[in-house]
Amino acid sequence: MKLYGTMEIGPNGHLYIGGCDAVELAKQWGTPLYVMDEAEIRRRAKAYKQVLAENYPDSRVIYAGKTFMTTAMCRIMEEEGLGLDVVSGGELYTAIAAGFPTENIYLHGNNKSEAELEMALEHRVGRIVVDNLYELETLERLASARKEKVQILLRVTPGVEAHTHSYIRTGQIDSKFGFGLENGLAKEAVERALQLQYVELIGLHCHIGSQILGLDSFDVTIEVMLDFVAKLKAELKWECRELSLGGGLGIRYTAKDEEVSIEEFGTRIANKLKSEAEKLSLDLPTLVVEPGRSIAGEAGTTLYTVGSIKEIPGIRKYVAVDGGMGDNPRVALYQAEYQALLANRANEPATDVVSIAGKCCESGDMLIWDLKVPEPKSGDILAVFCTGAYNYSMASNYNRLPRPAVVLVKDGNADLIVKRETYEDLVRLDTVPARLASKKMKIAL
Ligand code: LLP
Repeated sequence: MKLYGTMEIGPNGHLYIGGCDAVELAKQWGTPLYVMDEAEIRRRAKAYKQVLAENYPDSRVIYAGKTFMTTAMCRIMEEEGLGLDVVSGGELYTAIAAGFPTENIYLHGNNKSEAELEMALEHRVGRIVVDNLYELETLERLASARKEKVQILLRVTPGVEAHTHSYIRTGQIDSKFGFGLENGLAKEAVERALQLQYVELIGLHCHIGSQILGLDSFDVTIEVMLDFVAKLKAELKWECRELSLGGGLGIRYTAKDEEVSIEEFGTRIANKLKSEAEKLSLDLPTLVVEPGRSIAGEAGTTLYTVGSIKEIPGIRKYVAVDGGMGDNPRVALYQAEYQALLANRANEPATDVVSIAGKCCESGDMLIWDLKVPEPKSGDILAVFCTGAYNYSMASNYNRLPRPAVVLVKDGNADLIVKRETYEDLVRLDTVPARLASKKMKIAL
């Protein structure tokens, strides 16, 4: 089985991540536990920076915070010289709390509230990626009230279908995101933006989907976007100075997924952009990419403790763990597939086939179907791989399960970067109207 990042199997047969024994991590911090491999996160961030520095120096790498965002992650991204894509006031607040340089922040979202836009202007974020006309007009009004210009990109829906799960496609024409290209709305939006006084249109943005392993969809996107850029130059005399291709590069969750490296991706898009620009006699725009999953995904592992084991003769063996759809909703949402091993018996032969169930009151709360492992026993530690992207960030308190802690491991050290929620946290925001209160209640009114 493929091990990711700094993982290795120690002489004691335990899984090690970042030089830390996963069994000890589970003992020290409890389970479920998200473990993030700092060296792997940094290696991937560096790989993006380097491949673009070599092939397309006028470029920016913006980490998509929706993937996995905490204040510590913001610090790592800043140290690696990446910018940040945020999609809400909450993500922006997290970045500000971490002291992230706001000029390197891009604010996204298809329905930014006025309060979120005000917050972005107040903190002078680098770019606002405008999604619709309502937002464009609101932004002009807010910026003019401040008498300050704001630099924007317009989000375009290029109508390219990425080869990925349909729920996470965002580039097709029938999309809640952005201005359609083929139906002329994108051009109209550019025309409108150019009439405005406080909004400065710097460039265009697109994002065609996520977990994309077929690089040809990026080629097509570049062709479509540059044709549009050429048309805008010819018809409106407007030059696109910055072109963001969004995120989307996939990772290898299981052996079914092809392995596509950041180097291959970076070289491919850089070369394609240069050749298309040359063909159309366009100046090269600044290239922006917004990777998320391909930075954090493979760097994350979730540790669980095995509890009940239920064999249904002739049908299947259910092995239940102490987490599930609350900490990883991707299986229920997208039928995502994961690999895993027993962290305390990592070098034993996989002689059993079991299905890993979560502990939520829902039949759909499954983590892995038909996993090959040594025969599991209650108390074993199961390590599920590639949970660094869209797990912690999409976690919920369904069934009032406290969300797990996150530890960052590197060179044999483990640091807590998100505390485990407690039962007190679960009731912290509850209030009880006086008419329902009783003397027996243990929470302060
Ligand atoms: N930029 C924009 C505008 C995006 O909408 C996204 C992801 C990214 C960048 C980062 O894409 P990445 O490099 O991570 O593919 N929850 C889903 C994924 C939703 C992706 C949404 N947008 C999942 O768990 O698979």
